[in-house]
Amino acid sequence: MRTHYCGQVTEAQLDSTVELCGWAHRRRDHGGVIFIDLRDREGLVQVVFDPDREETFATAERVRNEYVLRVTGTVRRRPEGTENPNMTTGQVEVLGHELEIVNAARTPPFQLDDEDVGEDVRLRYRYVDLRRPRMLERIRARARVTRILRRFLDDNGFLDIETPMLTRATPEGARDYLVPSRIHRGAFYALPQSPQLFKQLLMMSGMDRYYQITRCFRDEDLRADRQPEFTQLDIETSFMDEEGIMVLSEAMIRELFREELGVQLPDPFPRMTYADAVRRFGVDRPDLRIPLELVEVADLVADTEFKVFSGPARDPRGRVAALRLPGGGELTRKEIDDYTAFVGRYGAKGLAYIKVVDPERGVEGLQSPIVKFLGEAAARAILERTGAEAGDLIFFGADRAGIVNEALGALRVRLGHDRGLRAEGWQPLWVVDFPMFEYDETDQRLYALHHPFTAPRETAPEALEQATDPETILSRAYDMVINGSEIGGGSVRIHQPDLQLRILAMLGIGEAEAREKFGFLLEALNYGAPPHGGLAFGLDRLVMLMTGAGSIRDVMAFPKTQTASCLLTEAPAQVDDAQLRELGLRLRGAS
Ligand code: AMO
Ligand code: AMP
Repeated sequence: MRTHYCGQVTEAQLDSTVELCGWAHRRRDHGGVIFIDLRDREGLVQVVFDPDREETFATAERVRNEYVLRVTGTVRRRPEGTENPNMTTGQVEVLGHELEIVNAARTPPFQLDDEDVGEDVRLRYRYVDLRRPRMLERIRARARVTRILRRFLDDNGFLDIETPMLTRATPEGARDYLVPSRIHRGAFYALPQSPQLFKQLLMMSGMDRYYQITRCFRDEDLRADRQPEFTQLDIETSFMDEEGIMVLSEAMIRELFREELGVQLPDPFPRMTYADAVRRFGVDRPDLRIPLELVEVADLVADTEFKVFSGPARDPRGRVAALRLPGGGELTRKEIDDYTAFVGRYGAKGLAYIKVVDPERGVEGLQSPIVKFLGEAAARAILERTGAEAGDLIFFGADRAGIVNEALGALRVRLGHDRGLRAEGWQPLWVVDFPMFEYDETDQRLYALHHPFTAPRETAPEALEQATDPETILSRAYDMVINGSEIGGGSVRIHQPDLQLRILAMLGIGEAEAREKFGFLLEALNYGAPPHGGLAFGLDRLVMLMTGAGSIRDVMAFPKTQTASCLLTEAPAQVDDAQLRELGLRLRGAS
């Protein structure tokens, strides 16, 4: 239906006739002449209709925003002074000879160039929202990213293999989405939280190198970078250790950044242990663009009168840490109150601080609600250890270590943002030496920090069984972090059936339960399982990061809201009784 895309009409087509299709982006009447900016995927071109062609002109008068049009016209240079250097097509315009209204459109629910449209409206009319150049560009960037990743993996001998969507639960730590079976009444499929067990089975099948760009489903609390269904670039290899896997996958990410963004990432990526990351930054995915660090001060305050600090300082599960903010002395009372409320969201019971006005004057030169309890010696020692100077402010967290880490870790990122401390550029990082297990105080049991199929560093049964503190056992897991976002993670897997059973047992999953849930995997481990490992990248997060999108929803064509609904199709929805009956289900009534 056309000879060119609108956005591709340039001086190269001067004086020739073009046929274009697209949407009326804007129509302007200018003293007897009508201008229509015609838009398609590739951009905009200005089409001019003059009254000489009566019929065409009359049609142009009927055009409204977002009408679908087909235009035939000749390309001419724009009159001097009316060129638009910001547009690829800005030197030319098309003089319209013929105009067909292919389809009319209702008044759009919002103007395409309006930047302040509520997200609900955008999601409800997603097909209109996606016409915006910025959204379109992100979708295109995503397609380029998957193309580059696929090419890299194809070139490196990886086979693209699909795995089932209707399957059994895979324990990635979230709640499952269940699908009732009609044929097997009372039985349910689970949608995969990841293809983890299938990709391991593919290694046992001798496929050697596997990848898949696939959907994963997790019913968990949603955030700006979490969706209930999201996409992984999932990878697994045989006969390769963690070193080989990390080298290969960072080479892939380097190639991606070079091609898509023209950015050269460091070679190799720096590495940091989990313990160091948590100690210095409070989190296992530190944003290294922010030059602030947590400093341990428990030993300096353990013997002070100040119970808020001395309690956690003496508790083996407690932590007292300081965060120095250079130039923070200028923070107002209100700003400090806001930050106190902010850390409260992470469970912190307060946010003690010291403003360093004039360190030469000892405690006299400090402004703080806690110095009088801490005493001069402890205050001086803290100044020295944090390296605080005149004009700085030191924040403190004192509580169970988990709370202090979360609260100060989040405060660090927030301060980096609010105070403009975040450096430009890209800071990739491998986080390694993760613990195998994490103790959950509420459930009073161990959980796998990665997942239960991750290999421990230590494999000797005695060493595992005799570990006095299972939390000190390290795993062979690794996470890739860029600018504070966890974009991927994986591990070397357990390939010995007895070791797998032992680890499941440490997680409180006895042999009977293990056989019931993962019997197929345990069995397969007995039929010749090669050593194997891999990782999965969060494709949506990766694209979000690379395009600078503020929300994961902005890089997905049809995302769900924070409450996991689709405003466009109104899913999830009620189903009729007949359908439920067929499935052998009955609703117990609204509760
Ligand atoms: P993991 O659970 O760490 O590992 O997931 C891998 C990556 O997927 C992304 N991700 C998400 N993205 C959007 N929304 C979500 N709800 C969401 N959850 C996770 C993250 C994360 O790094 N089977 C293992 C991988 C392996 O061991 O090979 C797994 O799924 O970027
Ligand atoms: P309080 O004695 O509770 O009035 O607290 C004195 C100061 O310590 C206040 O500035 C509180 O914000 C702060 N504070 C209280 N609890 C904590 C905590 N767990 N961690 C850090 N600061 C705290």
